[in-house]
Amino acid sequence: MTLDVRAAAARVIGDVLGGHSLNQALPNRLSQVSERDRSLLQQLCYGTLRQAPRLQAILGQLLEKPLRDKDRDLQGLLLCGLYQLEGTRVPDHAAVGATVDATRVLKKHWAKGVVNAILRRYLRERAQLTQSLEPAAAASHPPWLFHKITRQWPAVAAAIMEANNQQPPMTLRVNDRRLSRADYLSDLLNQGIAATAGNFSPHAIQLAHPIDVWALPGFTAGAVSVQDEAAQMAAFLLQAGAGERVLDACAAPGGKTCHILELQPHLAELVAMDIDALRLQKVSENLQRLCLQATLLSGNAAHPPEQLRLASFDRILVDAPCSASGVIRRHPDVKLLRRESDIAQLAEQQRGILNGLWPLLKAGGTLLYATCSILDEENSQVVQRFLAEQENAELSCANMPWGEPASCGRQLLPSTGGPDGMFYALIRKAP
Ligand SMILES: C[S@@+](CC[C@H](N)C(=O)[O-])C[C@H]1O[C@@H](n2cnc3c(N)ncnc32)[C@H](O)[C@@H]1O
Repeated sequence: MTLDVRAAAARVIGDVLGGHSLNQALPNRLSQVSERDRSLLQQLCYGTLRQAPRLQAILGQLLEKPLRDKDRDLQGLLLCGLYQLEGTRVPDHAAVGATVDATRVLKKHWAKGVVNAILRRYLRERAQLTQSLEPAAAASHPPWLFHKITRQWPAVAAAIMEANNQQPPMTLRVNDRRLSRADYLSDLLNQGIAATAGNFSPHAIQLAHPIDVWALPGFTAGAVSVQDEAAQMAAFLLQAGAGERVLDACAAPGGKTCHILELQPHLAELVAMDIDALRLQKVSENLQRLCLQATLLSGNAAHPPEQLRLASFDRILVDAPCSASGVIRRHPDVKLLRRESDIAQLAEQQRGILNGLWPLLKAGGTLLYATCSILDEENSQVVQRFLAEQENAELSCANMPWGEPASCGRQLLPSTGGPDGMFYALIRKAP
């Protein structure tokens, strides 16, 4: 028996409302719906979560009293119902009917009338309901994040938040060792897959419409990988040379590890470390598909394992755990799960990782600090503090002719139809 797609979406969204990540909540449900409903389920979950702060504010006006915690699935269903009325081409009557029907699947027959009444009232009062929204809700961001983005990026805050609310492009990284970007572009066009060359990375190709990776020509054989253009800049900035030893300290799932190896086939060694042994498995799968080799190591970058000898690496990449505020469009659950208090904790963790890794870098070596955050607390402020704490660390002025200048590095901002938000700073160890 397969599960009704709206009931499945309601449960996924309910799980996220209860504190689970979308990556934890979605995969199980995908296997419970029929094959033809899978992409609709994804669209309903991602679309509803991208609009969740806005839809929650609308729902708050429509509910007489807040729903109980045990009815999170019902809240998920209502949010998903509103999303269909606001953001999809499903005819209103069909969206209302199917959403009301899903109450039966959720075994919440008592809520049938409530769901029907709320969605119909929304259709009647849509203009008033949306006009009275607070600015953060109207922009579909939690207030704390809305204020941070507005304060830190005043000139472009609206564009950033608009980009966060959109479906991101699907971007590929062509494996230069196998074929050129121009050749792969013509392979795609020959197969009727519309695509264009990226703007910054010479390996990037942007698809006009996302497709299943297995439908990409040569994917299994390692001709391409899926990687946003902003993330592709890491390997170019690291500039690993032949014969060098490189540590990718927060490596999973291995997108940047593989790009570094594609770009420099003659490294002495690349050690790909991650604290999460399960996620390291993904690195291994990616290396295998691309026929690349690295030493995999499970370990905590803040307290590196003893087998990593002091001053033994020429280059270190620190793609640090962060708020993911630059990739919200890919992880829209961030809007519901992140709290303002997380940011200071993350900054502390990032500082611990930088300090833990520093002794492993050779004198004269380079460390690339990267995050997929757009918040200064996790970016320039972390680097600034690190530079103040480590006498032999100095900021390197790399050639970064893209993005926005930051006080201690360079920031790519998420843009509609463009790259994700990523921060980069290159730090050199005095010789
Ligand atoms: C942004 S992701 C890395 C993405 C990866 N570099 C890529 O391009 O595919 C951050 C990674 O850091 C790992 N991580 C978090 N804390 C860590 C720590 N203290 N030491 C090592 N890895 C850590 C997480 O498990 C996660 O896989």
